[in-house]
Amino acid sequence: MTTRYRVEYALKTHRRDQFIEWIKGLLAVPFVLYSQPTGVPGDDASVAVMAEEAHRRYAEIMRDVEMMIDDHIVRQRQNQSQGQDTGIPSHLTPLPSKLGMLVPTAGPFFTRLPLEAAFKYQDRKRYMSSRRYVAPSFNDVRLILNSAQTMAVTGGALQLATFDGDVTLYDDGESLEPSSPVIPRLLDLLRKNIKIGIVTAAGYTTADQYYGRLHGLLDAVATSPDLDEAQKQSLVIMGGEANYLFAYEPSSPHRLAPVPRTEWLTPEMASWSEAEITALLDVAESALRDCVRTMHLPATIVRKDRAVGIIPSEPGLRIARESLEETVLVVQRILELSHLGYFPQPNLPGAGRLGGGGAGRKGIPFCAFNGGRDVFVDIGDKSWGVAVCQQWFGRQGVAIRGENTLHVGDQFLSAGSNDFKARSVGTTAWIASPAETVELLDELADLMQKKLS
Ligand code: IMP
Ligand code: MG
Repeated sequence: MTTRYRVEYALKTHRRDQFIEWIKGLLAVPFVLYSQPTGVPGDDASVAVMAEEAHRRYAEIMRDVEMMIDDHIVRQRQNQSQGQDTGIPSHLTPLPSKLGMLVPTAGPFFTRLPLEAAFKYQDRKRYMSSRRYVAPSFNDVRLILNSAQTMAVTGGALQLATFDGDVTLYDDGESLEPSSPVIPRLLDLLRKNIKIGIVTAAGYTTADQYYGRLHGLLDAVATSPDLDEAQKQSLVIMGGEANYLFAYEPSSPHRLAPVPRTEWLTPEMASWSEAEITALLDVAESALRDCVRTMHLPATIVRKDRAVGIIPSEPGLRIARESLEETVLVVQRILELSHLGYFPQPNLPGAGRLGGGGAGRKGIPFCAFNGGRDVFVDIGDKSWGVAVCQQWFGRQGVAIRGENTLHVGDQFLSAGSNDFKARSVGTTAWIASPAETVELLDELADLMQKKLS
């Protein structure tokens, strides 16, 4: 039993967020000790006493975690400056924080997280402390973390908000229609001089296709009577994770104009050669074909200039979730092995390994993810996409910093999810539906208003 459990756990870590699971485990202790599942239904007085005690204990735990994160941030800073002014020789491995030892996958943190206050806020909405049968859950903790992050970036810090498209702004595969409740909230951010980047995996080469998906927002910006020109120009679309940049353009029929790559590629991105990109996509395509064949998937291959994927071979068909996940993990593994030189590419000019290129050059980053109905492998990932937005909206060549950026998305599992990569360049909020995005934006607006007054 133990062995089976271990094997399953080991194989499924890609479906768990270890930081959230760890906090959930801490909250389970007071739940087990103080919840009163045997109480008589309707005995409001005893539930109230239990809820008060549980609230106090949950809040204490959140405060302790908050302090552990503070300590982690101090050590993060020390490690960053190691060898410069601390006197610690740079060849020594940085010492982990206590949090780093308990949750090795945690971090980096761009801001401190007021978890106690965030817990109290969410408990007023979700009444977690009043529950007698259901312990604080993954979603409870996820929403507490979102509130804490929202609290941390308000009060003047937020300069750039980036949003994923599918599931975050609109339902999977749908478009941002004029009636969407998210639109007035996005306009409100622009009105507050916050820049907006839509950082989506959807990879199109022309403005009309993005207009098709985002027309509700683009038309609302264009016709808004109370946004000035600079505020309207504070909206960009970054498509294909980090491959196509479109800026707001009032004179275009599609309200968008493509920005030539030479104007926004970072020096590192500019070094990715077309031959290496093609070679990476060739390997990914052949791995995808193998998956379609071996698992008999009802899927068709889609090859683009910066991506390759599988989609259902007929509208209405669904590929099983397990098959999509397996495909992501297989393709990712094969591409990683290619990076390491396991599959030499004799035809690649000047390169013996995929993406390796010349001596010391890092391989081209890619993002293999499960889109819910499809699997795509894109060149680059959202860490590059968000970083380009930070650069684009930066002033005098200085990019907007991670602590001044918030990326909102639905895909934050470590493997097979594309928003996860944005965590390395800015703060993030993990939502589960467009309705949650609306709630998050309302929370953000409320806090901004309160801190202003
Ligand atoms: P996101 O949630 O906005 O990042 O969009 C992800 C979805 O965009 C995927 O699930 C695909 O259905 C769709 N998509 C369309 N073109 C591409 C592409 O070139 N790469 C990745 N995803 C794509
Ligand atoms: Mg999404």
